[in-house]
Amino acid sequence: MITLGFNYSQMHDSSACIARDGELLFAVAEERISRIKHDAGFPRLAIRACLDFAEVGPDQLDFICEGWPNPRKVFGTDLKTFLRGQYPLNYSNALNSARLYASMAHQNGGFKLFTYHFGATKAQMRFVDHHLAHAISAYSYSAFDNAAIVVMDGRGAWEASSIWHGHDGRLDHVLTIPWPNSLGLFYAQFTQYLGFVPNSDEWKVMGLAPYGNAGVNLGEFISLNHEMYRVNAPLLFERKNGTSAIAKRLGPERTPESEIDDSFKNVAFAVQDACETAMLALVKLATGKTGSRNVCLAGGVALNSKANGKIQASGMVDNIFIQPAASDDGVALGAVFAPYLDKGGQLPMKPLRHAYLGPEFSDSEIEKALVTYKLRAFKLNDIAATAAELLANGKIIGWFQGRMEFGPRALGHRSILADPRDPEMNAKVNNAVKFREWWRPFAPSMLKEVAAEYLEHACDSPFMILTNPVRPEKRGVIPSVTHVDGSARPQTVDKEIEPLYWNLINEFGKRTGVPVLMNTSFNLRGEAIVNTPTDAIRTFFSSGMDALVIGSYLVEK
Ligand SMILES: [Fe+2]
Repeated sequence: MITLGFNYSQMHDSSACIARDGELLFAVAEERISRIKHDAGFPRLAIRACLDFAEVGPDQLDFICEGWPNPRKVFGTDLKTFLRGQYPLNYSNALNSARLYASMAHQNGGFKLFTYHFGATKAQMRFVDHHLAHAISAYSYSAFDNAAIVVMDGRGAWEASSIWHGHDGRLDHVLTIPWPNSLGLFYAQFTQYLGFVPNSDEWKVMGLAPYGNAGVNLGEFISLNHEMYRVNAPLLFERKNGTSAIAKRLGPERTPESEIDDSFKNVAFAVQDACETAMLALVKLATGKTGSRNVCLAGGVALNSKANGKIQASGMVDNIFIQPAASDDGVALGAVFAPYLDKGGQLPMKPLRHAYLGPEFSDSEIEKALVTYKLRAFKLNDIAATAAELLANGKIIGWFQGRMEFGPRALGHRSILADPRDPEMNAKVNNAVKFREWWRPFAPSMLKEVAAEYLEHACDSPFMILTNPVRPEKRGVIPSVTHVDGSARPQTVDKEIEPLYWNLINEFGKRTGVPVLMNTSFNLRGEAIVNTPTDAIRTFFSSGMDALVIGSYLVEK
């Protein structure tokens, strides 16, 4: 059976993936190919890449599944929340809701566009409820037979958070907390208040939080106890005479790109703290209801690596799996397996050991790009040793190898790498390459074998999706990847899964005694991570990187 899954809600992060007989073959977000960050358009390019990789035509597909429900269900939820006063019925909201419904209904949720772009297919097309798709994307790729699954995001059609019990390859729905009682909404509204882009820049708030102090009371916006959270959505949406309820209570909104004073840092602290408390409460509820201490997380809120680290260290869970593309790009991974649940069937249980699911470029394709741009490049005998030597000498390098990662993190295939021992490296990479905010931390990649030496509560962490405290004696050893609160968001690299990247870090370790690298995504601020050799070359020459190791080739400035 060949199935295609995609995400297309017209909101953000369109994507597609393809599976054959329960084996995930390929996955890519539309933004990586279209070069439009968080591209919300129909994932035409991503679907084309899936079909090309699997070498199948649209007529060979058995199912085409979208991780978003029938447009009527979304519109119905909007109408109900308008009538209940949970969502302000104003001109702009009504227009947006009607426009989305009309557009999605006209396209039959995107299925008509599939036929338009790819031609007729015998495949059965189906909508998959959004949180069910998130839940499958977490459970089916975990290594757990029995698990508590928690989905938390901005909104599905009617869902905000949901809990599922996974067992024997099946999913039982336990409960749903309906939209707009939504942690994602809560975080997004404050992200906007703090002068960032909601549903995109939540990372920045999380990174800023440790610079603030406790004291800001958000009790009117979210009520918390150890059982449950309740978000006051009407108040979060409220805006009178151009002033939001948040600004009325906490002071004027921050102007984007302006200085950040202590009051905004303290708000970030309070927002993050509230989110952590709510996530811990949900996980506690899920483990209690399901009786399982194996926890799977998905949904955009599950990208909150700081909260994830607290859940992992809480003592409430024995094992945790957080789907690396936890946001909506990842619902494709769930939708693609949904047909397996038909007639009481079982999901394919295939633990996701890495996220290298995207396009790959051969040395000859790389060579072609190098020749096009008339670049002087050297073919390397030992890629890892040469790159490690450059890094040990303080160079910042672009590292482009193998299949592109699926999900928001670069994991050693489309990465910018540097020496984590240099306390100035954070500023150097920020100024020369990433041009991003000073407070956002960089993350380490380390050999799996040394994780416990550097981190408290160390666990297998291949996806950089949870934080751990760095051991106090190691904070001075890797200062540029240790955040101000002493934490780090590690990638532990397994030699069996990723031998080249492991070798590189090992070679760096041989030269410096520290088998750890600073790893940040290969892109400039505000751009999508590079996909092709051309993207890599263009980014390399638009930044202050010193060298580019691309396939077997080295390009230096
Ligand atoms: Fe979602």
